[in-house]
Formats: sequence, structure tokens, C-alpha cells
Amino acid sequence: MSNVDQNSKIPNNVDLHHDKRLQRALEQWQPNYLQWWMEMGPTDFQAKDVFLRTAISVDADGWAHFDYVKMPDYRWGIFLADPVADRKIGFGDNMGQDAWQVVPGEHRNVLRRLIVTQGDTEPASVEQQRLLGHTAPSLYDLRNLFQVNVEEGRHLWAMVYLLHSQFGRDGREEAEELLQRRSGNPDKPRILGAFNAPVDNWLDFFMFTMFTDRDGKYQLLALAESGFDPLSRTTRFMLTEEAHHMFVGETGVERIVSRTAELMKQDKNEDARAQGGIPLDMIQRYLNLWFALSLDLFGGEVSSNAASFFADGLKGRYKEDSYEDHTGLNQYYKMPTPKDGTIVEEDVPLRNAMNEVLRDAYVDDCQRGVDRWNKRLAEGGVQGRLRLPNKRFYRHIGLYADMPFDIDGKMLSKDEWERRKGEWLPTDADRAYVATLQKPVTEVGKIANWIGKPARGIKGLPFEYEYVRLD
Ligand SMILES: [Fe+2]
Ligand SMILES: [Fe+2]
Repeated sequence: MSNVDQNSKIPNNVDLHHDKRLQRALEQWQPNYLQWWMEMGPTDFQAKDVFLRTAISVDADGWAHFDYVKMPDYRWGIFLADPVADRKIGFGDNMGQDAWQVVPGEHRNVLRRLIVTQGDTEPASVEQQRLLGHTAPSLYDLRNLFQVNVEEGRHLWAMVYLLHSQFGRDGREEAEELLQRRSGNPDKPRILGAFNAPVDNWLDFFMFTMFTDRDGKYQLLALAESGFDPLSRTTRFMLTEEAHHMFVGETGVERIVSRTAELMKQDKNEDARAQGGIPLDMIQRYLNLWFALSLDLFGGEVSSNAASFFADGLKGRYKEDSYEDHTGLNQYYKMPTPKDGTIVEEDVPLRNAMNEVLRDAYVDDCQRGVDRWNKRLAEGGVQGRLRLPNKRFYRHIGLYADMPFDIDGKMLSKDEWERRKGEWLPTDADRAYVATLQKPVTEVGKIANWIGKPARGIKGLPFEYEYVRLD
């Protein structure tokens, strides 16, 4: 069991006070982080008391503390999951060797890149969501937004700790740059596409936390397998917090869907919009968009980088333990590949298809969520159902990038795509309508008309609770 130090400037369970140089470097980064938070974190709510969860240890049954906190006073700390004694590298060419406790020189650049890319998503999402506090559908949702935001901030700390402790001067420079890039800024954008897309309404937010945060979960799961042990331990603990983010997304959409069904039943034409709700076809278009943007985050279907990450023991598969073979050699993935205007299956060496293997696990997980939403629709007595689009739809990276596919994965002509894309992706009219619904509801126990109440509140409290004290 690791020692938790809650009292120093930076709460941690990594014995920071034993390494004065590192401690000093991180304490120098801390005010820059706070400055970024004040500049790019949630607008205007920094002085309010928010009922937040704070990580205080990595103990399975008592890792978090709940209380009112003003966000700038949040105790962002560094917590690594407890070490596994004698841990070995579990896959690839180095399988069976001791896991690395210090970054190996030959993999230094690649690992730094992996850590920076993961780290960059954390502040990016906070920036994307910074205005949403003004239009929260309830105090419960407002609190959840801020919970996600402060924890993404902590995830940045998690990655910056690795950069500072393992990568020397380059690492410190990267840590500074993580505070310099800005989501959606053409001059200094965040690294990955979906993290530069605007999240300016709560339907986007719930889709983002459902689909894009879930990409994060799978990246973290793959990195949790890493032979670089500090990375594995950091990501394992991040996953504990991440679960709540996806809960926010999955149940957020679920509550919208339930409400839509209810409003449809109240209307003589089953028109949810006439009753102030979000119609199912519109929900479907937002789903299509965020699912496709999130699929891109896994990278190309056929990737020599993915192959070497696996070969070198840097990034494994989802639940690597569940596989019998951990070499990934002499096996093939049947990859649907565009060729002369059609799709043919090609055998891709498994190692080169590792992005796709991870993406498949992700898609299954997303499907489980969609099935749950459809259950709500069935219970609500309406006919419509939601679905995931085909993996080829609206992709910008990989084999299908910028090719016109419909949501069944059928290839279209460019003309047909242009004519029909409004059936599948949010239109200007959709955005304008969703914008009209973005009105804050700040009374305790009240909720906006377009979304249902959650089944329960936070930490055993009722929904009718003052999760954010606004005055
Ligand atoms: Fe995160
Ligand atoms: Fe997250």
C-alpha cells in the first residue's frame, strides 16, 4: 500500500518529498496550471461551492472524498495505482521480461509522444466545455460537468507527472506546451481532431462524454497493459475516475431519450419537438457525428506504428490477459478495404491491425449503451430506435478517410453524399433548434423540459439537492 501525502502542496502517493528536484519542478508548474485553469476552465463559476469528489488515495473502498469545494481550491493530486510485485511485460517481443520502472532509452521518444497525446486530450476537453455551465439543465448536471472538468484536470497532472519524472528537460517542455495549446485554435490547436470540435450545447456534451470519453477509456486500458510500469499504474487509477465521465454521457443521453419518448406520447402526432423535446432523428444525427469523430481517435486501420507499439510492449490490447497468444504473430485480421469503388476483405497482419482490434472492443461497448437507450424507447412505447452507424461513415482518418459512405457503410457517389449528408449529420437547423433549448435551470430539484431526471443523485443524495451553491 502506497503512502498518501495529503498535506503538501501537491497531494500524492508517489513519495514526492523524497525527490526534491522533481517536487520543485512540479511546484513550479502548479501556478501555470492554475493560471490555465482560470483562463480556460469553466467560466464564471470559480467562486461557487460545488459538491465534488476528490481523489485522496487509490484504495478500492475509500479512494474519494465528497464535499463542497470551490474549483480553484480543488486538490489536484498525483496518484498511481499500487505496484504489482514482479510485474512482467505481458505481450510483444519483450514478453516475460521485467516491466520497465524507468523509461527505456530506445522507446523514449515514442513513449513521450504517447503520453503527450493522451495528456493533451485532458485540458482540451475542459476548454471545449468551458461555456456549458451557463446552460445546464439542472444543478445535478451542472455539478457533473464540473466533476468531469476537475478530473480531466487531474488527468493532465497524471501525465505531467510522468513527463517531469521520466523525461527530463524535454518532458518539462512538453508539460508547458500542454498548457499552451488551445482547443479549436487554428494557430495552436489541440493534437487530436475530436478535441478541437466545438461542444457548445448539452446534447454535444452528453454525446462527447458517451463516445469521446469512452475512446479515452480504451486508450487508457491499452496503456494500462504497457510494459512501462509508471504509465500502467497511472492509467489504471485514471480509469477509476473515467468511469463516472462515461456514466454522465450514457445516462445523460438515456435521460434525453426517455424524455423524448414521454413527450412523443403526449403529442397527438408523436412529435417530440412540438412538445419542446429533441426528436429521435436529431439525436441520431448527433450520435452519428460523435461516434464517427471518436472512431478516428483510434488511428488508422492499418498502422505500422500500432504494430511497433505492440511489438515493443508499449501498448497492449483491451484485456490482453483474455487472449491466449500474446505475440500477435502469424495471425491476420480480415479488414474491409476500399478497392476500385467497392469493399473487399484483405488479410492484414494482426499487429498492424491493433488499432482496429481496440476499436472493435470500443464499438461493442458503445453498442451496449445504445441497446440500453433502445430499451428506454421500447418501455416508452414508441417505435423509433437508435443505432450506431457503420464504422466507415464520416471518417477522416484511416482507410475510409474522406470517402462518401452512408450509415450502413455503403459507398456513395460524392453527389449523393452531398445531397444526403443532412439526413445523417447535424444540420444548421438542428443546431439552431438545440441552441434554443440551452436555457439554464438553477432551482434546486428542477430540470429542463427536454431531459428526464436521473434515477438517483450523487453519493446517496437525492436529485433535489443543492449540488452547486449559486448564491
Ligand atoms: Fe481524462
Ligand atoms: Fe474523461
